[in-house]
Amino acid sequence: MKAAVHTTYGPPEVVRIAEVEKPAIKDDEVLVKVHAATVNRTDCGFRAGKPFIVRLFAGLIRPRATILGGEFAGVVEAVGDDVTSFKAGDRVFGFSEGSFGAHAEYLSMPGDGPLAIMPANVTFEQAAPSTEGSHYARSFITAAKIQGGQDVLVYGATGAIGAAAVQLLKSLGATVTAVCSTDNVELVTGLGADRVIDYTAGDFTKDDHAYDVVLDAVGKSSFSRCRRLLKPRGIYLSSDLGPLSQNPVLALITPLFTGKKVMFPIPGKHDQQEVRNFKGLIESGAFKPVIDRTYPLGQIVEAYKYVETGQKIGNVVISVEPSN
Ligand SMILES: NC(=O)c1ccc[n+]([C@@H]2O[C@H](COP(=O)([O-])OP(=O)(O)OC[C@H]3O[C@@H](n4cnc5c(N)ncnc54)[C@H](OP(=O)(O)O)[C@@H]3O)[C@@H](O)[C@H]2O)c1
Repeated sequence: MKAAVHTTYGPPEVVRIAEVEKPAIKDDEVLVKVHAATVNRTDCGFRAGKPFIVRLFAGLIRPRATILGGEFAGVVEAVGDDVTSFKAGDRVFGFSEGSFGAHAEYLSMPGDGPLAIMPANVTFEQAAPSTEGSHYARSFITAAKIQGGQDVLVYGATGAIGAAAVQLLKSLGATVTAVCSTDNVELVTGLGADRVIDYTAGDFTKDDHAYDVVLDAVGKSSFSRCRRLLKPRGIYLSSDLGPLSQNPVLALITPLFTGKKVMFPIPGKHDQQEVRNFKGLIESGAFKPVIDRTYPLGQIVEAYKYVETGQKIGNVVISVEPSN
């Protein structure tokens, strides 16, 4: 089968399309013919081996996972003897956690792992980008115990995480203020944001509204800049280490005091129930992953380059055309 392979850490060009062996499945696994996957920020970090801390998980000297790609959508080709919840021909989507492998024509997944039957109303390309940004957004919302009626500001509302966060927060009944650039105001309004602040038109931290939670979904703000936006016991939550890698430290220190605090939640593991929940949200129209560009597998290097501009809107999809 064809796969996008990298055997050393480095820039997008370390990835090449190669012929590799189709995965063999164990009794408790399913073989998925991949139709679509994504290139996301996690793939970029694991390919580059940066920041260095990534190598504690990815391999100190060279990458353990030589085929990246977490998110996928495709068709079950075969199931192991012990798998009862899926059968050949099922259209599925999900997330290959830790072992990756979706940047290829075939992928093996544990039958009880994070995958589910695809929502009825979407294509493979629309289903693939539904399980990473949304998983992080859901993890952050859960960690901060955000509830309906709370006021939340989402900074970076047009990334994969931010765009999912706006929609998931709205489905919870929170009031959402989204921060993005001029070109994306209409998009973010369409995602359901109650208010939109254009960060190119002025300093969003001068907003005189007070928030229960400020969620920085792109890691470009800081607690010190945003603290005046928070209510007295408000939470500043970030998806990233922060400009000076300060967020993990602040997340340890600030809860020792009463008042405003920082959270830097480590997202929990994906599981099958969560993927089923996303299926339900997609089918009900509460969640629709935003797709920016779609590249064929053969142009995955270009896809990596684009994701690394830091300017993608939502998700970048890889269309995989399996050869029989
Ligand atoms: N915690 C984790 O485990 C984890 C996992 C994956 C990714 N991440 C991190 O999460 C962050 C978001 O990743 P993502 O894939 O959702 O999105 P992304 O691709 O990093 O974000 C792109 C979006 O950010 C907006 N943006 C760029 N610069 C901005 C700025 N200075 N201020 C406000 N918005 C800006 C852009 O829209 P506009 O043009 O409208 O500004 C663009 O739509 C990344 O920093 C990534 O490293 C964390």
